Amino acid sequence: MSTIPSEKIDQVRNASDIVDIISGYLSLRPRGKNLFGLCPFHHEKTPSFSVNPELQIFRCFGCGAGGNVFTFIMRIEKLTFPESVKFLAKNAGIEIAEDETQIENLREKEALYYANKFAAAFFKHTLLEEAKAEQAREYLAKRGIDRSMIDRYDIGYAPDQWDGLIKWANQKSLSIDVLKKAGLIIHKEETDSYYDRFRGRITFAIHNAGGQVVAFGARRIIDDKTPKYINSPETEIYQKRQTLYGLYWARDAIRKQNHVVVVEGYTDLTSLGKVGIEQVVATSGTSLTEDHARLMRRYTTVAILLFDSDSAGAAAALRGADILLESGFEVKIATMPAGEDPDEFAREHGANAVQVLLKSAKPLLDFRVERLQSPELSQNSVQRSQATRELLATVARIHDPIQRSFVVQDLANRLHVDENVLWREMPHVRPQRRIATDQETPDDTHDPYLKSRRGRAEMMLIKVMLLHPLLAASIMSVITYEHFRHPEIQQLFQSMEQEILMDGGFDAQSHIHKIQTLQLAEYLVDDMGEKKEELSKKIAVDCIITLYDSQLDDEIKSLREQLKEFPERGSEITNKINELHRKKSILLSREKLNEKALFGS
Ligand code: CTP
Ligand code: MN
Repeated sequence: MSTIPSEKIDQVRNASDIVDIISGYLSLRPRGKNLFGLCPFHHEKTPSFSVNPELQIFRCFGCGAGGNVFTFIMRIEKLTFPESVKFLAKNAGIEIAEDETQIENLREKEALYYANKFAAAFFKHTLLEEAKAEQAREYLAKRGIDRSMIDRYDIGYAPDQWDGLIKWANQKSLSIDVLKKAGLIIHKEETDSYYDRFRGRITFAIHNAGGQVVAFGARRIIDDKTPKYINSPETEIYQKRQTLYGLYWARDAIRKQNHVVVVEGYTDLTSLGKVGIEQVVATSGTSLTEDHARLMRRYTTVAILLFDSDSAGAAAALRGADILLESGFEVKIATMPAGEDPDEFAREHGANAVQVLLKSAKPLLDFRVERLQSPELSQNSVQRSQATRELLATVARIHDPIQRSFVVQDLANRLHVDENVLWREMPHVRPQRRIATDQETPDDTHDPYLKSRRGRAEMMLIKVMLLHPLLAASIMSVITYEHFRHPEIQQLFQSMEQEILMDGGFDAQSHIHKIQTLQLAEYLVDDMGEKKEELSKKIAVDCIITLYDSQLDDEIKSLREQLKEFPERGSEITNKINELHRKKSILLSREKLNEKALFGS
């Protein structure tokens, strides 16, 4: 069992609508009360994967996969139960603390979130209200950043003074220590004093996937010798490799468009947003990481990289493209006319031109092949073979071996190279790392106990109880947790019992979501939405009989062992055994225990 407190698990469950979460991986269409899509766990052409929003469960009628939102994440992200809770928590912006040090840590994090939110408010106030921000307002106006964008993207201005933020914080009694930990101010050793990190710059608040401000990027507004942008340092709440600028705002649009557009800069993103292209994230000066890819893959598996064709960043962008490909993305490249970046392009040519550009994006391989065939490269054999290797490295990242072999054939033709040469080179360029999707799924689907007569009776009985809370109370009057052998079912029973005793009823969903064993979850949700009525009292009675019977078998077995150990008590023990056998036969003839006796009429 995980150490995550159950209230936290409940909180995460409540924040993670199964339809939203699953829609991040496949597209779902409503049919009847449920939604259907192509199963991500086996290959199929017609959708047999269903999601039941009411019960918050999923089920594939093709391969039998099924469960709750947590077990879905366990399967698709190859995670353990606690990891899946943390995964969803992160997605929902919920912090999980597991022990004392983490609780302390959490408090510290909350303070950092607060400091960043505080600073964002200060910068925005300065930009909008203060006379000293006149130049900043002119600068923004010149760049087409209007009031609605300032609000939408949390843009502000850090005044050109050493202690603007510090003074403001003093007034509002926010501690210097927290500002420093948040990277908003800098300590000066010589005088043991502090000064603002961001001065005389436009600030772009950077949000995490849950929408909290975690850092800033800040642009100079005059052409001096200082760096064009300076950024917050990494902190407890801000890791560059795990943060994508704009993802929080873009999520819905990414889902709707079923692709994400990746750009480099803050202003690229804001200007695209201004013309209504919202499915955009920015790497903001860092190279794309596997963590970034994983973040985006919650919402889509198609990525379009949009960058300046002659930018020095093109090579970096292509490296990013390989990472995306390796993380299971379909990757396309869209390039702008030389010398323009997406910000300028969007402002000059407008929404339609951007749409055309995105529509004409080329699949990564085609893009690489075309580069290879460009006149400059065909002159230079060293560069050409280097580019060929890079291309092969891209091919090596294609997951599906059949698709990969088609691609190699195709490439050999297009490049006029012997196919065998390409295959021979392949192992040398193949990525070394084992990719996340190759990891073993935690597999508990072969627990023989759950397949035994008794195990199945335990599962079935719990299932009846979950579906019929009223029946559950009656069952609890004849069955105790000791009748269950499977530890997780036993625990489930106990927590249901506790809830019934305290509240007179229980919330079946919250119990379904406590289940951490894939096989159990799968079994429990099997047909759950559909055949409620068929799971009747009769099944409950059968299960109860099986459990009683198994209990009697256990007792008989232990008496037999006693018999061997204490032969002197032979007749006494034999009598007891006979008594149990008699109970067994009564039980199995169902004279004493029948539906009526158990549940009334
Ligand atoms: N960047 C940075 N530090 C720098 C330069 C750039 O962090 N000194 C990051 C910023 O996130 C920037 C991105 O890299 O948005 C792309 O850089 P660049 O293309 O040089 O800037 P633009 O986005 O075009 O910025 P602007 O339009 O404001 O000139
Ligand atoms: Mn620019």
